[in-house]
Amino acid sequence: MQKFKRSPIRAFAGKWMTCCLLSVSYLATAQQQAANRPTMVAGFPVNYSEDSVGTYTLPDPLKTNDGQKVTSAEVWMKKRRPEIVRLFEESQFGKMPGRPADMHFNVFDKGTPAFNGKATRKQVTVYFTKDTADHKMNLVIYVPAAAGKPVPLLMNISFIAYNQLIDDPGLMVGNVWNKEGQRVKADKPTAFGKMNIEQFIDAGFGFATVYYGDIEPDFKDGIKHGIRSLYLKPGQTETAPVEWGAIAAWGWGLSRAMDYFETDRSIDSKRVALQGASRLGKTVLWAGAHDPRYKVIIASISGEGGAALSRRHYGETIQHISDPSRYLYQFAPKYHDYAANVSSLPVDGHMLVSLIAPRPLLLQTGSTDYWSDPKGEFLSAVAAAPVYKLFKEKGPETTVMPAAGDTSLLLNELGYFMHDGGHSVLPGDWTHIITYMKKYL
Ligand code: GCU
Repeated sequence: MQKFKRSPIRAFAGKWMTCCLLSVSYLATAQQQAANRPTMVAGFPVNYSEDSVGTYTLPDPLKTNDGQKVTSAEVWMKKRRPEIVRLFEESQFGKMPGRPADMHFNVFDKGTPAFNGKATRKQVTVYFTKDTADHKMNLVIYVPAAAGKPVPLLMNISFIAYNQLIDDPGLMVGNVWNKEGQRVKADKPTAFGKMNIEQFIDAGFGFATVYYGDIEPDFKDGIKHGIRSLYLKPGQTETAPVEWGAIAAWGWGLSRAMDYFETDRSIDSKRVALQGASRLGKTVLWAGAHDPRYKVIIASISGEGGAALSRRHYGETIQHISDPSRYLYQFAPKYHDYAANVSSLPVDGHMLVSLIAPRPLLLQTGSTDYWSDPKGEFLSAVAAAPVYKLFKEKGPETTVMPAAGDTSLLLNELGYFMHDGGHSVLPGDWTHIITYMKKYL
């Protein structure tokens, strides 16, 4: 039996490597293609049998806290949606603060030809505070050189520095967190190759990306170095659980990226799609729920704590997430109270999905990514479809899960696509994502 219990730092190191695998989308390695099916994690067995999923009742997204049935888009927007946002703040991710007063931008690369003149590149540092030494994130933005007007774009949140992600010699070399929890120059290529940016440019879109560790490092004590350290209340320490987890912190950073886009005339900030994979798939869901300025959300392999249904006992569960050796720090402290009692969780994946309505949302999954439960994500879309329907928009409208590679549900406002393969974003997924962006941006 495969056992996944490791020391936190080794677990982090391992995850970090896995993360690098996830964020880039060139040829999938054999490891990526392999089934994601650990059987024992943090001492808890993992179920992969449909017979043992159990029965469950999902909370009704269309019933208000005081028991009224929601039958109009207006009541949804004014009453029910804010209720659900609050429930997620309290019980799963934590509340994000607003825009910091002293935030400022430095566009240090103001528009340089890239990709043989096909694109124009900008690099921007977003300083979250007055102090320019710390708490900052770097964005790179490419727009088609021929555009001549503001362009729609894809904003990606990545596990690696942008100079590691993109083959462009003009990029500043960033810093990344190493497995010892230190910040080091991102001057080595990752084992995973580069992402194809030109496919976005060729389709008439811009592309922007940020390294998530610029906002908050992805390990247990990451708060000590991350943005959350600036928001501790008097008397609160970095070692006590704070109200918002690392996922909310990464999502907060994405809102700050949007703050910048709104100032940049080469970008049509009302037409920006947001994409991330895995824990960053969870992040884009919460960021998109919180910040309606993102017009389209593309949540890749988001799994447990993302689009997958927590009440469906299959693959990863809150119990696995909540083990101190794993991902406790990514969520609000209250989330872990539901680890052994998921039926009392006031929300579930379908409610997170429903918060994006009426905006387009694409759930991208993988057929052998059992750990993330692609079926749980499909059922979540089915259960969120009535909310999209309030706006006369389409979700799956079937309870039959599409086979791997079937694109019949891809282009719905609430879209779903499962590739044939594991926990990754494959080159073919990007092709579908671009098709989706063409339809909705
Ligand atoms: C782990 C974790 C998942 C997460 C994934 C990732 O597998 O259990 O919840 O989505 O890492 O981010 O790679």
